[in-house]
Amino acid sequence: MFDKKRYVLVCTNEREPGHPKGCCAGVGSREVRERIKDLVAEKKLKGKARVLMTSCLDICSGGPIICVMPDNVWYEGVRVEDAEEIVDSHLDRGEPVERLRKPDAPKGFSMI
Ligand code: FES
Repeated sequence: MFDKKRYVLVCTNEREPGHPKGCCAGVGSREVRERIKDLVAEKKLKGKARVLMTSCLDICSGGPIICVMPDNVWYEGVRVEDAEEIVDSHLDRGEPVERLRKPDAPKGFSMI
């Protein structure tokens, strides 16, 4: 049984409208973070996962960007409707949601 706590880092960085880099807040990351946080509470998974806001994770295109540590799994383009699948599959069962993974995710950024 999986008993390790995961940290869900949701980029909620905001830039001014029209900024060439764009930003995760501008494509709905704050709503995604709220939904994931609510689901973790509803499903009584607080012992398994903690949902955190972060500033820019330096992968601004394709947001919202989420990094789950210590797994070093990066998600991109996450929508509110994807939140439950991430919570049930990854945070509860320990199975990352492959269809949302960023294929060229940073390597070597690991907490383990
Ligand atoms: S603004 Fe979210 S990764 Fe840069």
